[in-house]
Amino acid sequence: MNASDFPTIRDICKLVYPEDTPYTEEELAKHKELYPQGQFVAEHLATGNVAGVHFSLRISMNDYHIDDSWDVLTAHGTFEDHDPVNGHTLYGADVFVSPEHQHHGLAHALTDATRKLAVEEGLWRMVAGSRLPGYSTVVDEISPLKYVQEIVEGKRIDPVLTAHLKDGWSVVKPIQGYLAHDPESAGWAAVIQWINPDCPPPPGFELR
Ligand SMILES: CC(C)(COP(=O)(O)OP(=O)(O)OC[C@H]1O[C@@H](n2cnc3c(N)ncnc32)[C@H](O)[C@@H]1OP(=O)(O)O)[C@@H](O)C(=O)NCCC(=O)NCCS
Repeated sequence: MNASDFPTIRDICKLVYPEDTPYTEEELAKHKELYPQGQFVAEHLATGNVAGVHFSLRISMNDYHIDDSWDVLTAHGTFEDHDPVNGHTLYGADVFVSPEHQHHGLAHALTDATRKLAVEEGLWRMVAGSRLPGYSTVVDEISPLKYVQEIVEGKRIDPVLTAHLKDGWSVVKPIQGYLAHDPESAGWAAVIQWINPDCPPPPGFELR
């Protein structure tokens, strides 16, 4: 990620998260300063523009609760809780792809790049919170747990969780209040993880 990418990243952010405040250029620069190798950008070769991103930081899950919010897990979006010493978990703070480039496997490629980083750095796992933007359409009909189960079983499609499952993540559990402004997900998200087979968490450090 280069400083010249920041304006396009902000533009994509406004398109995919219309309810939210986009990252500032200062925040993006800070993320890069704290953990440059964890900030991935997919570039559209024809134009040289950013097409998608995956942002990550290393954290120690012992310092958090499984149902902590994105604000807590990212130190309010600053990534200042990045812990290169005791952070055995690569926390996927964000992944988004420009609408014009979605459904071309970019999220999958970005996740593969992030997974490679987790392996190279000998981390136990990747953890993230998956939005559930399809849930608001059925919130009066089924529980979040049932919704997530049906996505996992392939009985329903969620525009985000289905993509994450296809990209190799698995669900730990649904949680409430992960994102402050996400009416599409009706306030819910699913904690997802990918375990590094070469270096799994030691007994007692699994997520539940
Ligand atoms: C989630 C997101 C990053 C996926 O990006 P992407 O580059 O389109 O993802 P991929 O192309 O790697 O995979 C998309 C897969 O999701 C699944 N999927 C998503 N919507 C689907 C639908 N309506 N019907 C069937 N499958 C669907 C499919 O498996 C699809 O693969 P396919 O296109 O080959 O069929 C993108 O939709 C996005 O930026 N969303 C807005 C921001 C966001 O919510 N980010 C997630 C934060 S947790």
